[in-house]
Amino acid sequence: MSNLKKEILVLLDREQFISGQNIADQLDVSRTAVWKTIQALKEEGYLIESVTKRGYHLKSSPRYISPTSLSVLINKSNLFNNVEYFTTTPSTQKEAFRILSETRDPFMVVAEEQTEGRGRFERHWESPSKTGIYISLVLRPNIPITEIIRFNLFISLAISKSLDEAFGVETGIKWPNDIYLQDKKICGFLTEVVSESGVINAIICGIGINIFKDVSRTKIPTATSIEDVVGTSEKVDLDLFMERFLDNIEVYYNRFLTDPFSSIRDDWKAKSIIFGKDLRITETGNMFTGRALDINDDGFLEVLDEEGNIKKVISADIEL
Ligand code: BTN
Repeated sequence: MSNLKKEILVLLDREQFISGQNIADQLDVSRTAVWKTIQALKEEGYLIESVTKRGYHLKSSPRYISPTSLSVLINKSNLFNNVEYFTTTPSTQKEAFRILSETRDPFMVVAEEQTEGRGRFERHWESPSKTGIYISLVLRPNIPITEIIRFNLFISLAISKSLDEAFGVETGIKWPNDIYLQDKKICGFLTEVVSESGVINAIICGIGINIFKDVSRTKIPTATSIEDVVGTSEKVDLDLFMERFLDNIEVYYNRFLTDPFSSIRDDWKAKSIIFGKDLRITETGNMFTGRALDINDDGFLEVLDEEGNIKKVISADIEL
């Protein structure tokens, strides 16, 4: 990623013009280098107006996430110091597992398209080009593997809050791994772990979010997208989403490392959409129906089954 691209993007303003000379002076490069980099940014989808004697002005950002703005955000992040960006890949999870052995640091893998996107229980995840966000987060906490249940609870809250803050919507958490919007699935995530002697070596958390409308999703009546709900793609600002997302992931991941689930239990419960509902629950191959009563401090779901017994569920496939 060219540093100049990132530096010029940071200097370009939406409100006022900045002259080529001013940019060149601030970054200690030639005006030709500025001009060439502005052309490269335009090719990435930035609408940059240039007016004689006034300079450059950023009119709009690309509709989809741009690798340059993502890398500007990553530079500001205290959690991730690297992002691998693909225009297409079989699966960001696959890439994340491949890169894992090369570094001990946390990193992110982002793709515009996945040809073999994978959901929980080996289901297929529709990942058409530039219509969704496909991300794998690789984190390296040095904690017992039993803590992974709490991870899902903290991360689901971080994702749900980010969607609300960026798009002005009100998402809900469908325990354990889905985010819903207006009774349909907008996002799913899967958490995979590499461990040694009961201690986590790496968490590989794959997150898929439906952003723009796409024909492939119309086959799935239970799925929706942000564009379906907010009405028009102009209102969908993915740079803003990525900023909120990176911020919330950092906050909630740090809280996961230090705080018990009880510290976010009330917030989490306020966002949960399963309490008081009759559910079909499939846990390790066994299906039963029951009513979700509560979530305990360890993150186990308490369910009242049809025989009147209270069951504690750790992780399951749930149908509303
Ligand atoms: C689910 O709801 O079943 C979880 C879906 C997870 C999809 C994401 S998209 C990015 C990452 N790469 C994959 O192949 N899967 C996850």
